[in-house]
Amino acid sequence: AYTWLYQSPLPIPPVKTPTMSIVNPVTSNTIDYYEVYINAFQQIVYPNKPPVNLVGYDGISPGPTFIIERGQETVVRFINNATMANSVHLHGSYSRAPWDGWAEDVTEPGEFKDYYYPNSQPGRMLWYHDHAIEHTAENAYFGQAGAYIIHDPAEDSLGLPSGYGVYDIPLVLSSKYYESNGQLVSPAGETDSLYGDVIHVNGQPWPYLNVEPRKYRFRILDASRASGSTTKIPFQVIASDAGLLTGPVATDNLWISMGERYEIVVDFSGFAGQNITLRNYEDVGKDDDYLRTNQVMRFVVSSTAVTDTSTVPSALAVVDFPTPSGPGVDHHFEFDRSNGQWQINGVVFADVANRVLANVPRGTVEIWELENGGGGWTHPIHIHLVDFKVLWRSNDQGRSVLPYEAAGLKDVVWLDANEIVRVEAHYAPWDGVYMFHCHNLIHEDHEMMAAFNVTALED
Ligand code: C2O
Ligand code: CU
Repeated sequence: AYTWLYQSPLPIPPVKTPTMSIVNPVTSNTIDYYEVYINAFQQIVYPNKPPVNLVGYDGISPGPTFIIERGQETVVRFINNATMANSVHLHGSYSRAPWDGWAEDVTEPGEFKDYYYPNSQPGRMLWYHDHAIEHTAENAYFGQAGAYIIHDPAEDSLGLPSGYGVYDIPLVLSSKYYESNGQLVSPAGETDSLYGDVIHVNGQPWPYLNVEPRKYRFRILDASRASGSTTKIPFQVIASDAGLLTGPVATDNLWISMGERYEIVVDFSGFAGQNITLRNYEDVGKDDDYLRTNQVMRFVVSSTAVTDTSTVPSALAVVDFPTPSGPGVDHHFEFDRSNGQWQINGVVFADVANRVLANVPRGTVEIWELENGGGGWTHPIHIHLVDFKVLWRSNDQGRSVLPYEAAGLKDVVWLDANEIVRVEAHYAPWDGVYMFHCHNLIHEDHEMMAAFNVTALED
């Protein structure tokens, strides 16, 4: 059944183009306006089976890649042509609350919603995905996820490998599980986790990519709804969730879990004429492993030498780390399961009266302590609105804060079994009620989600 391992090329999601420009009536700035249709489509995954039924942004999965200049405001109209309600979250954007993809703010089939994005944060790869109440796992798994890059012109002078789809390539990882009839097993009835046995990159199982013997920038996103991945080839980590690190971190493996992004530069110049396989370690974060889940994709390096003028400078960016407010923990949250339900501090998202677990005055810096309540589960925790610094890990799993976690800002942190992690963030620039949750989307749908309220400043 796996005879097509490394037989198909890596697909590169097309770049989304705006429909028109409009004028912001308040600021007179030009806003680029886009339209995205959420459509059912079919994709041939198993060569000898009927095509798989999927639903994706513009009828593809991953959806088209947005590449937006920093500071260019956008409005994206998401038109729901599918049969399920949706809500769109631009993960990593400090969107105002009405456009943040609040889980209950769903758009019904046949309707649309316009989302406004400021795009004024430092350059980074965000991603847009479904966030509909209790259906996020299903919707994202069946295809509703795509990359959204804020390009900061300040990056251009660094000399990093560049050119979308040429030397700067998104790698959207996911793992899926198919029925014998070739259709996806639906996560809808799942309450624990669903681990796939077929690894996809940019929607294609186990693809290959022809590369030249030179440096490449890969923007890696773990878009699975469950599973962790690591890779093993020598490379430099240059960016994480919130963009460039202070400087590159050399390594040969990467811990990446659901919702996390890392950008790496791989230099293939020493590997001319060879095949390099990207691998996934086994038993990572108590993941379930299958026959081929230790393999991800293959780089086929050509033997023809090329000139490579790209570089990775030793200083990449001045990262806007939050100014510490003091050593004390402001909030403690425990992620665990009881009575068959995933919860945070004993609260489930459906508990509307109690689900706002923190009030944070706008503009303050807080330390949140996130504790995995045990049971052998791993929980990647995502906090909306903010970028945070990973301050400390309890080290129960034998790892302290990873060097590439510490060198930049993040919006998802991987909480391994029994781990306690502290993260520090500046709760700004807007007030409003935002979600935080486990990014194992099955845990999220089954109530491991809560809210925090960034409160307005008093006069
Ligand atoms: Cu990527 Cu609340 O999600
Ligand atoms: Cu979880």
